[in-house]
Amino acid sequence: RGDVAPAAASWWRTEERQRLLDIAAKATPRYVYHLPTVRQQARELKKLAAVDRLHYAVKANTHPAILGALAEEGFGFECVSPGELRAVIAAVPESAPLLFTPNFAPREDYAFALTTRATVSLDALHPLQYWGELFRDKEIVLRVDLGRGLGHHEKVRTGGSGSKFGLPVDQLDSFLRLADAHGVIVRGLHAHLGSGILDDSHWGEVYGQLASLAERIGSVSFIDIGGGLGVPSHPGEAALDIAGLDRVLRDVKTAYPHYQLWMEPGRYLVADAGVLLARTTQQKGKGAFRYLGIDTGMNSLIRPALYDAWHQIVNLTQLDAPATALYQVVGPICESGDVLGTDRRLPEANEGDVMLIAQAGAYGKVMSSPYNLRDEAEEVVIE
Ligand code: LLP
Repeated sequence: RGDVAPAAASWWRTEERQRLLDIAAKATPRYVYHLPTVRQQARELKKLAAVDRLHYAVKANTHPAILGALAEEGFGFECVSPGELRAVIAAVPESAPLLFTPNFAPREDYAFALTTRATVSLDALHPLQYWGELFRDKEIVLRVDLGRGLGHHEKVRTGGSGSKFGLPVDQLDSFLRLADAHGVIVRGLHAHLGSGILDDSHWGEVYGQLASLAERIGSVSFIDIGGGLGVPSHPGEAALDIAGLDRVLRDVKTAYPHYQLWMEPGRYLVADAGVLLARTTQQKGKGAFRYLGIDTGMNSLIRPALYDAWHQIVNLTQLDAPATALYQVVGPICESGDVLGTDRRLPEANEGDVMLIAQAGAYGKVMSSPYNLRDEAEEVVIE
């Protein structure tokens, strides 16, 4: 925790500031997405020469303009529900590849996905044990649990014994027997260990482990090493080294060159591209604290309450004023956890100042709720 600005890209600090103030003057709360930043992040990832295909994990942000921009950049799309599949199919050209990687989904979700062009992933024995006819003679992806998870918070780690994701490797032989019995071909192997990872060596290890399993299976032609690419959020964190990641992946591909390498990043593409704009409401001094209220809270952005996530907060109206106050920035929701930022050094606020919550492009709007029946933040796109 701290009040130092992280190294996050801040397109909003410069030429777009006035535009954001104008957008906030019409209504708050509002999410604003900056498409040039999405494209810039996409182009960073396209420098990964070792990667044969990139799918955008659409759960991070399903805005059609973002889906369209990433389709233009040549991305495929990773979806986890029929709703996400429908949103993508409506927003992108038919040539964009789709991946369906649900978890504990009902039978009818797979039945729907199999009517689309999506490549379908399974991560349990159950679908082949009980719904084998659905998958007869299909090519599928198998998601395995490599026995460990990683990520910025325990709630976003998706591997290891405490996690519900992936087929444990010790059930691989049972899975292959069931697949064989139904003529199902395991064409892809997949693992995703978690979200918000800033250590580039991790994906090389995942590729190596999956490739050695693929050698046992025989029918595999692509290996999906998941998403999870982090962006620095806490003060002092360093950005992922994309050139370093490429070196790691190229090295490990030399050992196992027969497989296509796929990745499915979400956050990396959209986090810095989005901000949440709100207006200050009331202030209150209470005990040792000064509370600064804004007109939206955990109903619009639940990440601080759910993961103790740190989002930079600035007073956009008084961007360059001296930060002489120490505030707890809170929303209007009836929960003690409705705190967007603790101990933030900010200018003395006036009622109605526009506050900007940064890095809100990923897992912001998509995780918002109608709680307390407060109006949902509208979304605005800057081309
Ligand atoms: N692939 C799979 C199978 C996933 O489950 C996820 C994210 C991704 C890819 C994309 O991960 P990313 O590149 O965005 O880290 N709500 C949390 C993050 C949950 C991520 C869930 N799965 C947050 O706000 O930090």
